[in-house]
Amino acid sequence: MKSTAYLVLYYFFTLKVINSSSLNSPSKGRIVGGFEVEKNDYQYKVALIHFNGQYFCSGAIVDVRVVLTAAHCMQEVFSQTGIFAILGSNDIVNYDENYQKIRSQNWTMHENYTRSIHYDIAVIKLEASIIFNGYISILPLYSFNDTLDKYNVTDCGWGIDETSQISPVLRCMNAVVLSNAQCSSVYGNTIGPNFICAQGENGSRTCSGDSGSVLVFKDRRSVYVGVGVLSFGPSDCRAAPVVFTRVSKYYDWITERIQIFINSP
Ligand SMILES: *[C@@H]1O[C@H](CO)[C@@H](O)[C@H](O)[C@H]1NC(C)=O
Ligand SMILES: *[C@@H]1O[C@H](CO)[C@@H](O)[C@H](O)[C@H]1NC(C)=O
Ligand SMILES: *[C@@H]1O[C@H](CO)[C@@H](O)[C@H](O)[C@H]1NC(C)=O
Ligand SMILES: *[C@@H]1O[C@H](CO)[C@@H](O)[C@H](O)[C@H]1NC(C)=O
Ligand SMILES: *[C@@H]1O[C@H](CO)[C@@H](O)[C@H](O)[C@H]1NC(C)=O
Repeated sequence: MKSTAYLVLYYFFTLKVINSSSLNSPSKGRIVGGFEVEKNDYQYKVALIHFNGQYFCSGAIVDVRVVLTAAHCMQEVFSQTGIFAILGSNDIVNYDENYQKIRSQNWTMHENYTRSIHYDIAVIKLEASIIFNGYISILPLYSFNDTLDKYNVTDCGWGIDETSQISPVLRCMNAVVLSNAQCSSVYGNTIGPNFICAQGENGSRTCSGDSGSVLVFKDRRSVYVGVGVLSFGPSDCRAAPVVFTRVSKYYDWITERIQIFINSP
């Protein structure tokens, strides 16, 4: 059984090591074994970049002015207005034609987040409203309490590669939701109901730099629905399940925060 010593949060610069004492080499690699996608697919995807243009995490559009991401992505960002969201572009070096770049105005991490794996969720308020087009749209979030075991899901991101460079182009992987019991047998007993685990198909996997990316499935109407926010995985990025904050468990928190943002100046 693997211990929590193998876990790192897939943050871009400083990999957040849960227990550094017996960590092997830190995680490297982009979504491995994944695939590139059409420009108008995954219209909810967001790249989060620093003022200097450096990519650091992913997120998803959940309201006309709100982006969902992981709390550990935001913990090193000191100014509320200190980042940009890039929307509508698969390429984050040479932005696609229909991209929008909007500065953050504010954000909130979950109030119980303490730099551990728990409550790893945050929302960002943008300084201006998003203009929706055929490349940019809102991701509906899953609010029901079913576990979604065995669901076919997809995760996309711009995680770093072996030379610590970002992948300039969005990459996605297909995965299957594991039961929390199966996931716990890999990670130890840390994987409670507030998490959702997914195992990439054919050895594909997410890795450092993919943090905050939102796990989705396609519902009966072929609409993507968000079910998880990428939080952590094995430090060596081997083909093991990766662990997401379970959106349905935080659905009320997210919708309340969106309301607070909407009602604030
Ligand atoms: C940021 O949002 C929170 C509510 O989530 C609010 O209490 C706070 O005043 C806001 N800060 C700014 C600078 O707008
Ligand atoms: C935060 O943690 C406390 C203590 O564990 C718990 O009672 C509370 O419900 C949590 N808050 C949220 C919003 O989940
Ligand atoms: C989901 O909620 C229903 C009704 O509240 C409950 O009966 C059921 O046990 C819950 N399922 C899970 C997996 O928590
Ligand atoms: C997942 O996809 C596979 C084929 O890739 C299919 O056989 C299976 O039925 C799908 N599972 C669900 C729950 O939709
Ligand atoms: C997995 O690999 C097999 C064999 O290479 C291939 O036939 C199959 O299409 C792949 N599945 C996915 C989801 O990429």
